[in-house]
Order: sequence, then structure tokens, then C-alpha cells
Amino acid sequence: MSSRIVVLISGGGTNLQAIINACELTDYPGSVVGVVANNSDAYGLTRAQNASINTDTLSHKDFASRERYDQALIAKIDQFSPDIIVLAGFMRILTPAFVQHYQGKLLNIHPSLLPKYQGLNTHQRAIDAGDKEHGVSVHFVTEELDGGPVILQAKVPIFDGDSSDDLAGRIHEQEHRIYPLVIKWFCQKRLSMQIKGQSELAILDGCILPAAGYANDE
Ligand code: GAR
Repeated sequence: MSSRIVVLISGGGTNLQAIINACELTDYPGSVVGVVANNSDAYGLTRAQNASINTDTLSHKDFASRERYDQALIAKIDQFSPDIIVLAGFMRILTPAFVQHYQGKLLNIHPSLLPKYQGLNTHQRAIDAGDKEHGVSVHFVTEELDGGPVILQAKVPIFDGDSSDDLAGRIHEQEHRIYPLVIKWFCQKRLSMQIKGQSELAILDGCILPAAGYANDE
């Protein structure tokens, strides 16, 4: 049975588009049943509507606290009865209550080789640090911001003279490859998150993934 995917966005939604495209392939084990944005201008909403996917918008500006916003967001998401919730450029810090509600079925994509460069402006920070490579990580979401177990990373080179936009473009290409792949693993029930003691682990095909995820080359 096809898994029900809900995608949360704040902006352009190129990752959303890559996921929608993947879901249209024969044998892809999931389908996007809803897209929720915190910003009614998010172009990703148009992408979803063009694909006849239900959308909803919930502006954080209408709420007095992060907790109340996240409770209302849960209500919006749960109306789609999701099996998996995918953060695709959703630029909000989530409350512990939200993360706990979706524990083990909440994925994020973050534009850095985590644990490097958690937070914002990752491309410029990598350039400023003189790094020769940069990348992107797909990870399970836990209460620690950008700190949950990594599932898969992809690396890109940083060339002399690269701007932040150059790097963002190179990263996007990789994001569009790896996010649909990881979501596929989850929908196939090959991928899960388990909690052992104090730590959360990503498990793929029964094996604990290393800190840098599958395809770790250390
Ligand atoms: C992506 O590069 C994603 O990694 C990043 O936002 C972009 C959204 O692009 N996410 C974060 O920075 C989360 N902290 P998109 O709207 O074109 O998919």
C-alpha cells in the first residue's frame, strides 16, 4: 500500500517538486497527500496545486506562541492521516511536543554535512571557513535542532570564487537525488529510527547507520 506523505514547506519547493516527480514513477511506494506552508507566498504551494495535491497554509504570524502554532500545525497535518512527514525547506524551529508527536516519522533535509553548520547560512559559512567540500544531509528530526541521526549525505566540491548561490545550486541538484531516495526507503519500511538509551539511531535494512549515514566514506 502506498504511504501517505505530507510535505511542509516555506519557499520555492524544488525539493517538493523532486518528491512529487518521484511519486509519479511506477512502483514508487508513496504519494504526496498534502502540502502545508507557513507562508502563503511559498511557490511550492503552486507546484502542489499544479499536481492536484491538497494544500493548506498556516501562518506563524497569527499565533502568540511557538507552542500554539505547532499544536495548530499538528491539527492541519493530521487531517491528511500521514505515514511520514517531510520537511522540505520548512524554516521553523519545532517544539518538543511537535517532534514527539511525529517521533520516528519526521524527516528533514539540511544543506550541510552535519554535524557541521547546523542552523542558517550554511553555504556562506562553508565558503568563509575555506572548506573544499560542502554537502547536504537527510536526517530524522529529534528535539535537537539539526541534530537527529543522519540517514544519507551527498557531497559537492567548493571551487575558488564560488558564491553562496553557486553552492546552493550545486547542493540543490544533490538534494533532488537523495531526498526522494530516502523517502522511498522509509515508505518501503526499510528505514526506521530507534531509541537506544540516550541516543537515537537510524536503521536501514536492519543495520545501524554510521554517524554520516549510508554511503559514509570515512
Ligand atoms: C533546501 O536547500 C533545504 O536544504 C533548505 O532549504 C532549501 C529549500 O529549497 N533547508 C534548510 O535550510 C533547513 N534548515 P526548496 O524550497 O527549493 O526545496
